[in-house]
Amino acid sequence: MTTRQSGIRIAKRLDEVGFSNIVQVRNKVVELRAEGLQVHPMHMGEPFFETPDPIKYAAIKALVENQTHYAPSSGLLPLREALVAKLAKKNSIHATTDEVIATMGGSQGLYAAFQSVLDLGDDVLVFSPCWAAIIDLVMGAQARPLLVPTISARRNGIRKTLEQFSTPKTRAIYYNTPQNPSGLVFTRAEAEEVAAFALERDLVVIADEAYEDLVYEGTHFSIASLPGMAERTITSFTFSKSYAMTGWRAGYAVAQEPFMTALRKVVLYSTNGVTTPVQYAMLQALKTPEAELARLREEYRKRRDLLVAGLNEVGLECETPAGAFYAFPSAEKIHKDSRIAAQILLEKAHIATIPGSVFGAQGEGHLRFGYAVSVKEIGDCVTALRRFFA
Ligand SMILES: Cc1ncc(COP(=O)(O)O)c(C=O)c1O
Repeated sequence: MTTRQSGIRIAKRLDEVGFSNIVQVRNKVVELRAEGLQVHPMHMGEPFFETPDPIKYAAIKALVENQTHYAPSSGLLPLREALVAKLAKKNSIHATTDEVIATMGGSQGLYAAFQSVLDLGDDVLVFSPCWAAIIDLVMGAQARPLLVPTISARRNGIRKTLEQFSTPKTRAIYYNTPQNPSGLVFTRAEAEEVAAFALERDLVVIADEAYEDLVYEGTHFSIASLPGMAERTITSFTFSKSYAMTGWRAGYAVAQEPFMTALRKVVLYSTNGVTTPVQYAMLQALKTPEAELARLREEYRKRRDLLVAGLNEVGLECETPAGAFYAFPSAEKIHKDSRIAAQILLEKAHIATIPGSVFGAQGEGHLRFGYAVSVKEIGDCVTALRRFFA
């Protein structure tokens, strides 16, 4: 006899979708702080500075001028024009205003991209360790992430490794540079290898360039700018990291047809576009001089160098990351299980980090330290580490 399932249950496709482990660490830190404990906030992925005033005033002006009505769900035309100009100038991606779409942060761009491309049972090649949300976004599209170890791919050949991990059901490659959590930056030659594989296998590339402005060694290179790639790449960008706009939920994606129609549908039926005054803030953010972004990059570089030196000094072996704002040292000296290592560090040294295992199996044995905090906070963290290992 079959038992009838209760109606009080969620859709099966969400069963396999996790709820951010990073949010769980954040909640634990809030708890400890409520108990009066001082916690070094190295678990965070938020810029150290506030949203610049001109961006805030642009949103205020839009509100005062009653720009509070529905905007086109893909974004205001002047915003899309500014995005097209930025993409051509900075990324060598040549798009029309119909090929860009404003999104609620990079998160919505990526959600829309996976939903637009994947069918039930598809596989996606994901360089690992990867931003934890990607695994859930792929699972939520009823597809399967195939984790490709980035370090050995670099060592043994990217194309060869992609081939090795690929299945007949592979439909797409998630390509993130600079990477969260490792800070790794793919070179142009590596992008060419990924592109060659995508072309050969007729795959879609979902490119995530959230940290495009934070490259310290080498230069940022957009895979969609390679010959034959614009038509098979959906690239997601965000205002969160470059302009300290995490809470505004502002981002955009660029793609050609047929993907653009799909992206528009997902955005339309999820949020019906980005909040109108926020779109004016985005327009203003795009006017930020490159020199200002370069100045901020140097601020991050200073923080990176301080943290990495401190980590290596206490024996948490760490390579110098080429981009983004995370260091990803080995956790072995504390505990080989990164969850236990993070717990020990939080409880004994009051340093909050993210266990590497949440970024995929290849992240195990590591801890993610974010260095987008004040120089003082990095100094305090290093002092706490010295004390812990003394
Ligand atoms: C690699 C990567 N992509 C995308 C995002 C999305 O950021 P947001 O939704 O704030 O734009 C993040 C945020 O941490 C990230 O690390």
